[in-house]
Parts: sequence; structure tokens; C-alpha cells
Amino acid sequence: MKVAVIGSGYVGLVTGACFTLKKHEVVLVDVVKEKVDKINKGILPIYEPGLDEIVKEALEEKLLKATTDYKEALENADMVFIAVPTPSKEDGSLDVKYIEQVASQIAETLEGLKPRKLLLVMKSTVLPGTTENIFKEIIINKVSEEWKGKLSFAMNPEFLREGIAVEDFLNPDRVVIGIEDDYGKDLLSKLYLDFVNEDKILITPIKVAELIKYASNAFLAMKISFANEIGNLSKSLGIDVYQVMDGVGMDKRIGRAFLNAGLGFGGSCFPKDVSALLNFGRGLGHKMLLLDATLQINKEQPKKLVDLALKRYGSLKDKEIVVLGLAFKPNTDDIRESKAIELIKLLLDEGIKAVHTYDPAAMENAKKYLSNNKIKYHATLENALSSAEIVFIATEWQEFKNEDLYEGKEVFDGRRVIEGKKAKYYEGICW
Ligand code: UGA
Repeated sequence: MKVAVIGSGYVGLVTGACFTLKKHEVVLVDVVKEKVDKINKGILPIYEPGLDEIVKEALEEKLLKATTDYKEALENADMVFIAVPTPSKEDGSLDVKYIEQVASQIAETLEGLKPRKLLLVMKSTVLPGTTENIFKEIIINKVSEEWKGKLSFAMNPEFLREGIAVEDFLNPDRVVIGIEDDYGKDLLSKLYLDFVNEDKILITPIKVAELIKYASNAFLAMKISFANEIGNLSKSLGIDVYQVMDGVGMDKRIGRAFLNAGLGFGGSCFPKDVSALLNFGRGLGHKMLLLDATLQINKEQPKKLVDLALKRYGSLKDKEIVVLGLAFKPNTDDIRESKAIELIKLLLDEGIKAVHTYDPAAMENAKKYLSNNKIKYHATLENALSSAEIVFIATEWQEFKNEDLYEGKEVFDGRRVIEGKKAKYYEGICW
């Protein structure tokens, strides 16, 4: 099939590239010319294991190209995926400006093309009603009568985790397809049956698909905050929350995943999506108490680790501290809403002399966002570690999981990376 993907950010690029694995022809559209040029040369704007090989092969086989030109993407497409960002506004509510812009662009482009059956699929995370009441509405109001009868709309949320997105795409737990008619159902089912068995495909109305995405992310975020709440309690009882959660998670009704206590959740999805759902629900007159507590617990978590150090040293003023990890989780260079960054800010607020930091992938992004002459970015893990005695672990990168590294160190572990067997002193945030 011929697929256009509008937005070649994280989701658009991974999704578009993976479609080419089954020989579908994909055209990616992006407004940023440099990004488009890079992708066409096989240089990826993001760090995602396994993706560069897929993109390179697709470029060689001429199954993938990127462009800034909507017409080039839309003129032959059977379906168009929308994968543009849906950021938060200041108040936490959803900002749909990019969805609106794309809708207008699509409508204008279609006017220059001969009407034919075309499926428009929302992939961006959008609140219930957005696909039909904003995206579809804008397009339908702008296109000719002839086009109106030929367009079909659908919503197909993504459940990709950064760092393992390719694997998640190829082995999903489910593919949710929100549709308004059989045309959308048949075309999307056909596309995804190349990747999954029929029993993994769930067909729903569009609004249901939209809410499945938010409810899934909110539930996972809630599990993490729950583990952290029980973790804080465990800490004060002198017991290990990981043992508690192992026992809790053995119940199949609960499951062990996403019950790892620590610094809390970051990234571009959970904080934003929980806030947007909370805001949305409140707008409809619901208190959204669980979501509110999920965010509050998450906000307070990094402070808990700093408090442990304050308890030990009385004050952190003029101390030098190593912070390992800057990315919001391992295997990504993404620092958005990273708890490691929050931790560094809290340490700076305590008046520390210097933060020595290292991350295997996120240093460049962190430098752009966080420049302060008290922050020393080290080229190697060893250099960072040799710079101070007190070590905070903020991201669970594999290379940090070596007890020998911490010999003679005073370690405050925010992610249960080590057991502290060789450390001079060791404390976990919730254990
Ligand atoms: C999340 C979801 O897991 C994906 O299913 C979803 O598609 C994606 O958001 C999205 O909406 O696009 P992602 O943000 O990449 O994926 O990262 P996760 O692996 O879910 O981790 C999120 C945060 O939770 C990280 O900061 C991680 O350290 C933290 N976390 C995760 C914990 O603190 N404890 C856990 O047990 C699990």
C-alpha cells in the first residue's frame, strides 16, 4: 500500500519506517527541511535502537522518502497517518494547534488533486472528540463536495515505548483501530494483518480509540505512583518495596510491570497525557482524584532522594555530587520531563558546589537545556565518578549496573540500579 505519514518525529518515523518492512511505500512529511534532508540521507534525528538499519534499507529499496511537500505525499497515498505533536499548554490542557494546521494543509492540498477514496488516520495522542470534532471538521469544511464523499476518518493510537519502539511496533500487545465506517476498518486491518494476528486487532468507534490511549498511559503512570507511595511507606518501615511489589505483581490480575519504585515517571508522554486527561475530565465536571494524586506523588518523588542526603549530611552546601544519568529512562537521548534533570535542579537549589554528570546518550540534549557553570558534563563514566565521593543514580542505564564502580562511594540510588555491595554507604529512595 501507499502510505503518507505527516510528521516525522518519533512516532511518525518509527511507524513509517516499520511499514516499509512489509514493502509498503511510505512518504514522510515534515515542515523542517533539515530533518527531511537528513532522513533522505539515512541520518536519523532521533536515537532509537534498530531504526537506522530499517531506514537505510528502506531508502535503498526506494520504499521510503521524506519531503516537505504535502502534494508529493498525498497524490498517490491510499491512507494518510497524522503523527504530529500534541503538546500541553501552560495549564496542562491539550494544545491541538499542529493538528489544526495539518488539517488545513491536507484540505488545501486535496483541492489540487483529483478526488478519490482516501483514508485519514489520526495517530497523534488526542483527547476524545478531537479526530471527529476538530480534525475531520476542519477538513470537511474546506474541501469540495466531491472530496467530502470520498474521505474516511480513523484513529489508530500508538503504544510505542522510546528505546524499544521498533520491537513494540513489531510485537504489540494490541492494535487499536477506531473507525467510522467499513472502509477504514478494512484498509487498516489489511495493513496491520501484515504485522499481527487478527486476535490482536481491536476495532472500536473513534472516541473509544482516543480514550484507550489516554486511559492506558494514565493507568501505567498510576501504577508507578502507586509503587512509589507504597515505596515511601516501605522505606520508613525499613523494608524493601521491590520485594513487596514482586509479591504484589505475582497476582495475575495486577501484574509486575510498571511497579518499579524510584524517582518517578518522566518523558514526553505520561506527564503530559495524565495532565491533559485530568484537565479534560475536570472540564466535564469530574474531580479526577486518582489522576491528581498520580501527578502529585510523581512531583514529590525526586525531593525524597535529596532529603535522604540532607538527612545524612545535614546540608549539601558546597558539596560536589556525581549524578549518573540524564535521560528520562535508559536507551534514549530524550530528557523531556526527566527526573534526572529535576534532581539536578533540586541539588543546585541546595547550594551545592558542583554537579558532575554523565549519560551515555543524552548529554548533548541536556547541555542545550541545562547550562550552568556548576554543572560539569564528563565525557566518560569513569571521569564523572572520579570527581566526587557522593553519587546519585538517576537513570538505570546498563553500564551503571556494576557494583565495582561504586567502591568507596556514598551512593543514593533513585532507580534500584545496584545493591550497594561495594559502596562505602548506600541508600535507595524507597528501599
Ligand atoms: C510510554 C508508554 O509506556 C507507551 O506505551 C506509550 O506509547 C508512550 O508512553 C507514548 O504515549 O507515546 P515512554 O514514555 O517511552 O512510553 O516510556 P516508559 O517506558 O513507559 O517509561 C515512562 C517513565 O516511567 C520513565 O521515566 C520510566 O523511568 C518510568 N517508570 C517506568 C518507572 O518509574 N517505573 C516503572 O516501573 C516503569
